[in-house]
Amino acid sequence: MKKINLSNPHIEALEPYMSARRIGGSGEIWLNANELPFPRQTFDLDVSEYHRYPDQGPDQVQAAYAGYVGVNPEQVLALRGADEAIDLLLRAYCRSGVDSIVISSPTYGMYQVCADIQDAPVIDVPLTADYQLDVAGITAQEKTKLVFICSPNNPTGNSFNQEDIVSIVRHFEGKAIVAIDEAYIEFCPEQSLVSELANYENLVVVRTMSKAFGLAGVHVGYLVANQSVMDIMRKVAAPYPLADPCAQIALQALEPAAVAFMQQQVAEINVIREAFSSTIQEFAAVQSVLPSVANFLLVSFKNSDKAWQALTDAGIVARQIPHPRLQDAIRFSIGTDSEMEEVIKVLESLP
Ligand SMILES: Cc1ncc(COP(=O)(O)O)c(C=O)c1O
Repeated sequence: MKKINLSNPHIEALEPYMSARRIGGSGEIWLNANELPFPRQTFDLDVSEYHRYPDQGPDQVQAAYAGYVGVNPEQVLALRGADEAIDLLLRAYCRSGVDSIVISSPTYGMYQVCADIQDAPVIDVPLTADYQLDVAGITAQEKTKLVFICSPNNPTGNSFNQEDIVSIVRHFEGKAIVAIDEAYIEFCPEQSLVSELANYENLVVVRTMSKAFGLAGVHVGYLVANQSVMDIMRKVAAPYPLADPCAQIALQALEPAAVAFMQQQVAEINVIREAFSSTIQEFAAVQSVLPSVANFLLVSFKNSDKAWQALTDAGIVARQIPHPRLQDAIRFSIGTDSEMEEVIKVLESLP
């Protein structure tokens, strides 16, 4: 068979995103993908219409999500996860080789990967020493088309100063889209910038049901924006982004009782996170624990290789972050009480 070598040169050179599933690992306790550790309640599926394509929205899901978020249904686009929203923004707003995006590392890796796929230049304006946004550095990027701000930020777990975010959105009015990735916002709902959509046409909010809603396996995300962005996004969205079973599950998970159930689980995770954080801060092997408002915690170790090995030996799969500033750090998704107890046992035994 003749080998083929026909792909775009920039795709040839592409480093794919190393998702938790791609990296893999072995063990009993999985704390590497910021998933919710509790299995969901069951859902009812109506299979009578599976010979038909689903509706694009579907409108019912978008309306339910709009009700949950507090915006108009026309401001919501349901997609295959927040990742699809990130990808569509890049494809819609950045011309290959011409229009740049701005990110603030260390942050979520898919902004870089989607930009690389689109061949859009990436300008990194790193977070400050205390992991906040460098507002002057970001607003100096006058020619950029798209600014990604992840708040709460993955992997650091903190949210950003709200006035900083708003001043960046205001600065880029009429010039660039500012996309706030609120994948973890349910763990600190008071930090959401959705209410600012009423003030800024260039603001976009990206959301997901993969985290607090505990539906990573269903993979439904949303883009929330104003009309001029929506008009563009509806042009580039796939004709049937959500499979019908996913749409049915999303709709049921947005019923008031299910939302209340989600909020109860979020409260539980926040309590487990705080208890875990204050316990491990005292351990000899732990250098520092970053304060987090999300369902994960970034922990620096005096010797992170030793800590990683001990966790691996105990069957605990956490996450190392490939960023020069985080070489001594390990990120732990917050699991159940008993899972975090197992982590505590391993960490307290380290010298
Ligand atoms: C900040 C952030 N945004 C988006 C995503 C992707 O979300 P989804 O599962 O909806 O594609 C993740 C997943 O880890 C994330 O951490």
